[in-house]
Amino acid sequence: MCGIVGAVSCDRNILPILITGLKNLEYRGYDSAGIAYLKNNKINIFKTSGKVSKLENKLNKSDYSNIGIAHTRWATHGKANNVNAHPHRVNHVTIVHNGIIENYEEIKEMLREENYSFKSSTDTEVACALLNYYLEKFNDIDKTIKAFISKVIGSYAILIFIDNDLDNLYVIKKESPLVIGVSNNINIISSDIRAILKYTNKYYILDDFEYAKVSSNEVIIKNSNGDVLNKELHTINIKDNDNSKGHYKHFMLKEIMEQKDTIYKTIESYIKDGITSLKALPDLTKYKDITIVGCGTAYHACLVAKYLFEEVTNMRCNVYLASEFRYQNNFLSKDTLTIFISQSGETADTIAALKLVKSKNYPTLGIVNVENSTMSYLVDTCLYTKAGCEIAVASTKAYTAQVALLSVLVLSHGLRNKSISKEKVLKVIDEFNNIEKLITPLLNNRKIWKSIAKNIYKEEDIFYIGRGLDYYLSMEGALKLKEISYIHSEAYAAGELKHGTISLIKKNTPVISSATNPNLNLKTISNLKEVLARGAIIYLLCDDNYKDDNFTIINIPKASLFIKPILVIIPYQLIAYYTANLKGTDIDKPKNLAKSVTVE
Ligand code: F6R
Repeated sequence: MCGIVGAVSCDRNILPILITGLKNLEYRGYDSAGIAYLKNNKINIFKTSGKVSKLENKLNKSDYSNIGIAHTRWATHGKANNVNAHPHRVNHVTIVHNGIIENYEEIKEMLREENYSFKSSTDTEVACALLNYYLEKFNDIDKTIKAFISKVIGSYAILIFIDNDLDNLYVIKKESPLVIGVSNNINIISSDIRAILKYTNKYYILDDFEYAKVSSNEVIIKNSNGDVLNKELHTINIKDNDNSKGHYKHFMLKEIMEQKDTIYKTIESYIKDGITSLKALPDLTKYKDITIVGCGTAYHACLVAKYLFEEVTNMRCNVYLASEFRYQNNFLSKDTLTIFISQSGETADTIAALKLVKSKNYPTLGIVNVENSTMSYLVDTCLYTKAGCEIAVASTKAYTAQVALLSVLVLSHGLRNKSISKEKVLKVIDEFNNIEKLITPLLNNRKIWKSIAKNIYKEEDIFYIGRGLDYYLSMEGALKLKEISYIHSEAYAAGELKHGTISLIKKNTPVISSATNPNLNLKTISNLKEVLARGAIIYLLCDDNYKDDNFTIINIPKASLFIKPILVIIPYQLIAYYTANLKGTDIDKPKNLAKSVTVE
């Protein structure tokens, strides 16, 4: 969601660097793009709706510049068009912005009274005008930024270009991610260090309410009082930065297939020496209960963890959507560990929830995929999933990595509080050691997933149902399908259908289900028969030998509770993928969605 790149150099053309940076940020999701750069002492601005490649084509190939800012916009205030695209320019100030200015209407009114007028519908143009207003008032950048920070409510990472100060860029940060990459004779600002890894792996991270002056050979970082800060210069060593699709048509399919390795890689260090290595995981016995928070797919991983913690270790576990967490009574205390789950480590709602818990000094644990992301710094303890770079917007390998890591956390807690025997733990470890063997047939059985996709891709409504753990997996299955195929799909607890939803079942409505709990399977099957009687077409994933000619039954391997989520979700991912593929949607970048959701 929205990407920022800025670069200053004394001897290099920064235009290809800005364009490459924007291309590297494309995966975050956007709908327009723009650039502003200095040429012959004049700021040139180009903008376009649509792709970065379209923006690139608008640029004059022979142009050369040493300083500039660029942006990919994911529309929040106003349509995705040229006028609303960034950069915005008001009098002497040009900016790009990631985030949301919540009180922009009030500021706009104030500025109108000062004779400012606005061309776009964006909050960013208002922020730009406010900066210009303060700059004219104070004629001092420190005072301008201080006034801006105290006036503006919301989140922002803003890159500022000022007409009479064209050797420098200024950067202000609150809540939206921002790093300043440092290299010889060039400094590059970006929303994500991975976007500029080609040029440097050394970078500063700005904290909220800090700002920086960035020139070609210097970075000066200050706090909101204008005091110069001595910030740590970080180094990132990413070995696995393979961002190519290889021979796959889509990143999503590549990432689904990578689960052969990523699940094991995530938990390897915790199981390689059997029970001994599980002890490396945090001791949860000092807590009375657990709260887990996440959004979207990560939230669905939270639900799996809740099931496992409660079922296996008898530890009470509350799960919240991060966007709701802040606005309700969460009954937290120092005896509750709050776990935050996130692929990107940058999701605004999850970070806001984390900050709330931290503000009370309660303990926090993060399960994060992207190293050095904002959340990884904020939590007391961070456990990394090792899914590698996930480019497709729809999360697949990050989810199974989260589930695997949470599973070993449950196992280690179960051992510590003696709710699970060593023998059982060793058996599960053995299954994880063989995970590749267990999932490869599911990954390779493309014929069956393609044939289900062929049966359902023209449908308008699809239902996923299950009980217990299978219900939580249905939620993830339905999300995967709807987000990339744009087919309306909903998950329901199987027993809940007849309390309302069954009225939506008509002839040929596909109902997809999994039944992997011997105590609940017959009940789920009864619910499936109820929808069958109303004309539904049933697809059932099942790990016992249940037979029914009225259903399409797909057998999945039998495994422990800890492995079942992985064995159900891989088929659901592949059904979603092949369905979207038949529909011809933009699978890796579904419409309206962003990979990294950095606004509330
Ligand atoms: C769905 C998906 C999203 C993310 C959600 C949280 O496939 O990817 O629902 O799971 O936006 O993102 P992270 O995990 O980065 O916090």
